[in-house]
Amino acid sequence: MIYLDYAATSLKKPESVKNAVRRATAGLSANPGRGGHRYALRAAEAVYEARERIARYFGVASAAQVVFTKNATEALNLAIKGIARPGDEIVISPLEHNSVYRPARALAGERLRVAQIDLARPEEMAERFWEAVTPRTKLVVLTQQSNVNGYIMPVEAIALALRERGVPFVIDASQSAGVEPIDVERLGAAAVCTAGHKSLYGPQGTGLLLAGADTRFETVMEGGSGSESERDEMPEELPERLEYGTLNVPGIVGLSAGITFVDDFGEEIRKNEYLMAAEMAEGLASLGYRVLADFPPERRSGVVSFLEEGVPSELTAEKFERQGVALRAGLHCAPLAHRFLGTFETGTARASVGAFTSFREVRRFLKVAERVKG
Ligand code: ALA
Repeated sequence: MIYLDYAATSLKKPESVKNAVRRATAGLSANPGRGGHRYALRAAEAVYEARERIARYFGVASAAQVVFTKNATEALNLAIKGIARPGDEIVISPLEHNSVYRPARALAGERLRVAQIDLARPEEMAERFWEAVTPRTKLVVLTQQSNVNGYIMPVEAIALALRERGVPFVIDASQSAGVEPIDVERLGAAAVCTAGHKSLYGPQGTGLLLAGADTRFETVMEGGSGSESERDEMPEELPERLEYGTLNVPGIVGLSAGITFVDDFGEEIRKNEYLMAAEMAEGLASLGYRVLADFPPERRSGVVSFLEEGVPSELTAEKFERQGVALRAGLHCAPLAHRFLGTFETGTARASVGAFTSFREVRRFLKVAERVKG
């Protein structure tokens, strides 16, 4: 089987990640931050080391600003609902996944605004975001990379424009973390949220909220924090303020190992993903598929969405599956993006590569694409 669904999750994990999870399950199963005995302290130390490792990788000033979550959706909910209040105006991009759209919509209701961007004109994007912002805007939330067509947003330019005008913003780095550079302090983001199980090669059930140095979050969930137990409310300090209940220690140490992996090989992974996706896009287009890649090449990533005209995308993906290729089809939990791209009715078939995809597999995929088309 050729697995081309890395945008959903990385099926294959580095050996170092598997070993870290195994070691943690065997030797770190006490509760970190919940006891003074040596087992609990050992687990707490492993979690702290992971926080430090992750803070360094993402340019976060203090390990305390690294908050562990169970996935990107949880991180985004904690960030969006921790910063904005019901009825506040929120601005988002039209490429957002439901993990941004739904919490933003739930809070802002009719006050949700969508920036009118043009993917072919990335140089104008910061301006488009700025036009969407009003004096009432409480928060801007945007993805760094679309999970539908792989478009890489010029987040640095957008961040600069918003920072200069003092508008807080949250970045959804679910698809980009591990591939695209992210420096939380330099961006000046209120928070950067990501999944751990995609291009960071961590286990499923892991996510991160990387908090800006000055961001104060209202709590969305409350419970045991392992510290300040006498208080009625969650502690003021991060990470305890946003981390309720027992942590996923095997997931956390596995994620840390994944981040070491991308720190070591990220440049190479990025280059290969780009070249593989370019080959897939070109090959599919030459076979007569409609490829959603009409934007500048420097905005492309390892994700290629495509369509057989007039055929529901699920049917296309089924044909590939029968020939040994795993794709994802449909709306990819991103109906807003599909409406924007004009593919809401059919969805798209999506091929996405990762660190363990080979050029040989890409060529076999294109052979299958030829057979499917014929
Ligand atoms: N958001 C993930 C995807 O794009 C699951 O497939």
